[in-house]
Amino acid sequence: MSRAIYPGSFDPVTNGHLDVIERARKLFDEVIVAVAHNDEKEALFTLQERLDLLQETVGKIDNVRIAQFEGLLVEFAMEQKARAVIRGLRAVSDFEFEFQMALMNRKLETGVETIFLMPKEEYTYLSSRIIKEIARLGGDISGFVPACVAKALRRKFNP
Ligand code: PNS
Repeated sequence: MSRAIYPGSFDPVTNGHLDVIERARKLFDEVIVAVAHNDEKEALFTLQERLDLLQETVGKIDNVRIAQFEGLLVEFAMEQKARAVIRGLRAVSDFEFEFQMALMNRKLETGVETIFLMPKEEYTYLSSRIIKEIARLGGDISGFVPACVAKALRRKFNP
């Protein structure tokens, strides 16, 4: 069985992430969307909220599984018997960090390969950070995220 991990903060999941998941699930028998549990990175949504939003958007897809992980990504990938890590690459500005991470992960574990997928052009300017900023300032983010995420963002900023 070919299995890939799609790791990230998913704070929150955007239409760009969904596009990458759709592409990845056509290439692998199973895709594990893995939410990083990282206390050092301050998130707007709790780990449980991020998992729930992913569950609501992609949880029902046959070959997609939602998981959480703590610690090194490559260790989680090996535990899950996944040979590939998927990362979305939007623009050249993503490249430096992604390149560094891919090569470091390869150094840590040669059995895990990083594969980059490019989302649809219309999603190249999307990021969770920018979505949160627009939502915080009262802008309309409904075209950029799944409906449940738009609702959750509205609730966060207008409790
Ligand atoms: O969505 P993000 O924040 O860009 O995802 C980054 C993530 C979670 C994939 C990355 O920080 C990660 O892999 N963290 C796990 C810890 C780890 O393995 N660090 C070494 C990477 S070289």
